[in-house]
Amino acid sequence: METDRHVSCATILADSRRHYRARLTALTAEFGTPLYVYDAAVIRARAARLQKGLAPLKAKLHFSVKANSNLSILRLIRQLGFGFDVVSGGELARLQAANLPLADVSFAGVGKTGPEIRRALAANIGCFTVESAGEMARIADTAAEMGRIARAALRLNPNVDPHTHKFITTGRAETKFGMDFSTAAALWRQFDGHPAVRIAGVHLHIGSQVRQVAPYIEAAQKTLGFITARRAEGFTVSTLDLGGGFGIGYQGEADFSPNDLAAALSPLLQNTGLQLVFEPGRWLIAPAGILLMTAQYIKQAGRKTFVVVDAGMQTMIRPALYGGRHRIISLAAAPPADTPSITGDVVGPVCESSDFLAQNRELPPVSAGDVLALLDAGAYGMVMASNYNSQLRPAEVLLDGNRHRLIRRRETMTDLLATEQDLSDGVSFLGEEPATSAPDRPPGG
Ligand SMILES: Cc1ncc(COP(=O)(O)O)c(C=O)c1O
Repeated sequence: METDRHVSCATILADSRRHYRARLTALTAEFGTPLYVYDAAVIRARAARLQKGLAPLKAKLHFSVKANSNLSILRLIRQLGFGFDVVSGGELARLQAANLPLADVSFAGVGKTGPEIRRALAANIGCFTVESAGEMARIADTAAEMGRIARAALRLNPNVDPHTHKFITTGRAETKFGMDFSTAAALWRQFDGHPAVRIAGVHLHIGSQVRQVAPYIEAAQKTLGFITARRAEGFTVSTLDLGGGFGIGYQGEADFSPNDLAAALSPLLQNTGLQLVFEPGRWLIAPAGILLMTAQYIKQAGRKTFVVVDAGMQTMIRPALYGGRHRIISLAAAPPADTPSITGDVVGPVCESSDFLAQNRELPPVSAGDVLALLDAGAYGMVMASNYNSQLRPAEVLLDGNRHRLIRRRETMTDLLATEQDLSDGVSFLGEEPATSAPDRPPGG
């Protein structure tokens, strides 16, 4: 049994508090807040941990770009030997912009548009993860038209409960993901031998922040039944992609154990001749990231205390969206030992009552101006940041040993307005007479 105390920014903070805190505080002085900081050493350590844990399965690992799509992070993860799982033409364009190889790229998602499919075929990506009959037909037609061959895996919906939040459950029959087994079997029969399509195997992804091994085993068992049946029909099935979803300990508890997964899956998969693939996102990158923010006000409302910070649901939406609970610590110098902690909410500037980062939480004593750190922020943080309330999206910094680099600059007011056009230029709407003069301006004004 492994120890399971995996490396994370949180464990580094706990072990070498003063030094790491000082570094993070210095970064806020240089780049301002809110600020996402990632630690390359943590990413490397976790990648090695994952690779070692899953080694008995000889699986390929595809990092799930949706968890964190910063170009520098993707480049680093590629250097560590990972391929990628993308879910949009935009994510694929990021890999292309970073000039990363595309042979180990799979493209999932229920809504691939015509232009996205064309982009992926033109880029000659490794494999489409096909989620419906309509999508299969569109991929086949487009590939034929372009004179390409589309490699595909059929995404199954195994109807397995991953015991996670409803919004990140994807493997149950009532969700929009994948196909039931009979639809997938019929599709295989229909497209086997199609000149522009090669169906190589099956894919599934049961959900995210999964804490137990058992749902993976249940899903794999069901899927192996499907594979055996297809092989009996004479089809070649060479790959089995079991998706991502490995959970982490947001409260400091043990992460999902890749070793335990490998131990449980090995007996099932030996002698199947299947090339296994996993698509972890959160497990690799969440604990490597921290969101730094500055307390603006300590607001008392009756018995309730609000710590108002300069980050919020527009910077990190997990608490508002999924009830995500992240630990929040203060980087300020420790107050005198007898200073009482406070119980309260950490909230942002957005005009929504859902704009909170923590609720009813025992917090360290905080004063306006203190820097707070929200832990395990590396996944589903920056990728979901928005401009709601016309807030600017934060900067991102990568730490590596004693060095650091800005890997995304903070947005500016110019960025905020860059894609918009107001009506002051007098351009008419379609079908209207062009405006001859600016109507509101007084003569000579
Ligand atoms: C198809 C697919 N693969 C992999 C992942 C990565 O999940 P996680 O970040 O939980 O590992 C997701 C996330 O929802 C997904 O939809």
